[in-house]
Amino acid sequence: MLALINGKIFTQGRLIDANLLLSEKIEKITKEQHPTDADKIINCSGKIIIPGLIDPHVHFRDPGQTYKEDWLTGSKAAAHGGVTTVLDMPNNVPPITTPERLKEKLEIAKKKSIVNFGLYFGVGPDNLEALDEVKDMVCGYKMFMCKSTGDLLLTDSAKQEKAFQAVSKTGEVLAVHAETPEINEAAMKNKKIEGHPESYADTKPSESEIRAIEKALKMAGTYKTRLHIVHLTTEGGVELIKNAKSHGADVTTETCPHYLFFTKTDIREKKALLAMNPPLRTKQDQAALWTAINNGIIDMVSTDHAPHTIEEKSKDVWTAPGGVPGVETRAGLLLDAVNSRLLSFERFIQLCCENPAKRFGLAKKGYIKQGFDADIAVVDMKKHHKIKSDDLYTKCGWSPFEGLKLKGCPVMTIADGRIVMEDGVVL
Ligand code: DOR
Ligand code: ZN
Repeated sequence: MLALINGKIFTQGRLIDANLLLSEKIEKITKEQHPTDADKIINCSGKIIIPGLIDPHVHFRDPGQTYKEDWLTGSKAAAHGGVTTVLDMPNNVPPITTPERLKEKLEIAKKKSIVNFGLYFGVGPDNLEALDEVKDMVCGYKMFMCKSTGDLLLTDSAKQEKAFQAVSKTGEVLAVHAETPEINEAAMKNKKIEGHPESYADTKPSESEIRAIEKALKMAGTYKTRLHIVHLTTEGGVELIKNAKSHGADVTTETCPHYLFFTKTDIREKKALLAMNPPLRTKQDQAALWTAINNGIIDMVSTDHAPHTIEEKSKDVWTAPGGVPGVETRAGLLLDAVNSRLLSFERFIQLCCENPAKRFGLAKKGYIKQGFDADIAVVDMKKHHKIKSDDLYTKCGWSPFEGLKLKGCPVMTIADGRIVMEDGVVL
């Protein structure tokens, strides 16, 4: 049994002075000064004890592209970032669109992952009959309405409708990558300026995301599909989701740190390191995302942790694969934002712990409550640190946030009652 003493515990929406006793489960939240049944006692004086973070959107690339990341390195990166549960996307090579591939991936993840995980199942053009069969093995389904990294996509409108209907029957969430292929293709012809990386965003315009979200919301409404729009980037998208929610739609959404801390002109300096799908947007979009984070329209901050090697990212913005790593830097960035009063501590917990747990049915996670899983992060709000690629655990070995100085970060991660990270070192 592990005891965390002298810290402040975030429970039931507020911070209390208490000690925490953990087995694989949360045994007790207690005011007892010296918990008697603990074998190991950790002094958390000056620190805050929170639920382990959940990242509802990562790409750990295993199986298929383990030269970029694998379940061991990806899960170590997660632990480094205070994350105790990751939900992994199915655009592996080949994509996870059959029960056999799903089972194979489950086995690999079970063997290698040092944190908890859930897997999405890919919705392709011809695997609808498999959706129901796998429903008890997945955290949700993923549909790419537009080509991104990998070959998983479903662009045909009639087939998309059928897929929304089929997912609705499973009762699970459908996570949708919302971009419109026709709009992107036209923009690629008209807006691409060779040698000018700043035209990258114009080749994947805002309208592409907005129209796709509109279409997804409509289909979800028709078939009563539980919809989750991934990596939201636009003010127009925020407005659509706000409107849908106000009419009672069963929709949630997430954005990612890169959209909150970079805008489209940053690609001039960082080149393909900042190429991703959807792309970085304007200051106005970014401001709309921050507002939506604070007023509850955006439910979660995921990372879309999308590791690609430095060699791959050294190509020009249109040739390099899109995506940035982020599973281990989200907590530091957002806690720094809490220190700068860009969001409240309570909202941080909702975005990174409570809301992902609620939406994806992680029944015993996301909260510190007796009987819940002992998935915990300890954070130090006063600790100064700098993002350095040498300190990272992701196999790709780089971060778009390299060199950033931050205040506040996780200093311990506990998954199922086991300490997996202490003082920035993954054990
Ligand atoms: O930038 C992205 N990278 N967007 C996606 O939709 C996929 C991801 C990846 O898998 O690399
Ligand atoms: Zn993604």
